[in-house]
Amino acid sequence: MRYVLVVRRLLPPPVAEVDPLELYPTLERPKPAGRPWLMINMIASADGAIAVDGTSEALGNPADMAVFSAVRASTDWIVAAAGTVRAERYRLPRPGATSRRVRRAAGRAERPRLAVVSASLDLDPGLPLFADQQPDDDRPLILTGPDAAAAAVEALESVAEVVRLASVRPRPAEILAELHRRGAAVVLSEGGPSFNAQFADAGLIDELCLSIAPLVAGGPSPRIVHGSQRTLPLNLCIDHLLEASDTLFVRYLSTPAAGLAP
Ligand SMILES: NC(=O)c1ccc[n+]([C@@H]2O[C@H](COP(=O)([O-])OP(=O)(O)OC[C@H]3O[C@@H](n4cnc5c(N)ncnc54)[C@H](OP(=O)(O)O)[C@@H]3O)[C@@H](O)[C@H]2O)c1
Repeated sequence: MRYVLVVRRLLPPPVAEVDPLELYPTLERPKPAGRPWLMINMIASADGAIAVDGTSEALGNPADMAVFSAVRASTDWIVAAAGTVRAERYRLPRPGATSRRVRRAAGRAERPRLAVVSASLDLDPGLPLFADQQPDDDRPLILTGPDAAAAAVEALESVAEVVRLASVRPRPAEILAELHRRGAAVVLSEGGPSFNAQFADAGLIDELCLSIAPLVAGGPSPRIVHGSQRTLPLNLCIDHLLEASDTLFVRYLSTPAAGLAP
């Protein structure tokens, strides 16, 4: 029997079936003055773990993949920190035909671009992100600081564009400014947790797409934000809540006025 994925909306008023790929890219993301809108997308277990044995693989399922693709279809640029790229063995985003159609309809390029943030440039050119490139791929952008070793830059320049930003560990505002300069109106950060903490500390998170997987992971995993220096909580409001395969998909916004009407 063919597996049929049904995603339902629980909030605001329930809808028996929604297509994430039709929903996410059409949601409002008003561009803040002078910088792109910043979304974060993460999956966590019911007890808050973001990784099992070092990756998020055990948390995912086809429903999460559908929402993950829909979130990616909503952005101009994806940014991920080097730890995540290494752990999750990142590849260049290659959306399917439907995603590309949805992106074109929204006035976006057919594929999102990918930026990787690394101070050390400890990025093996054998990683799939570099080694599996196709002739029509856009090369990844690597954002680093002024102290990055020249030899490491040279080693990566055949498979990526490497840009040195002003700070040794580029600050979130510098990263967003670079992507803004390249035309980004919406940027999606895919983590990891220590990278998310920098956006949280800078007060730059506009949207948090959180998938809650139906399992208790236990173990030593960090939460979706790890190592934050911020002492005040960042208040969020629910914009929508979806469910499929016992997995919850919450879209939070950080602007109260933009959230779910009472
Ligand atoms: N559940 C989920 O949705 C999800 C999503 C993403 C990741 N994860 C998991 O999260 C874990 C990785 O997260 P993590 O917090 O340990 O690491 P991370 O945030 O992914 O990466 C940290 C690394 O990124 C680079 N970096 C971060 N901020 C930087 C800055 N401002 N300037 C320059 N470089 C910067 C540094 O790389 P260099 O060392 O190269 O300088 C740093 O060591 C993995 O287990 C992964 O599977 C889970």
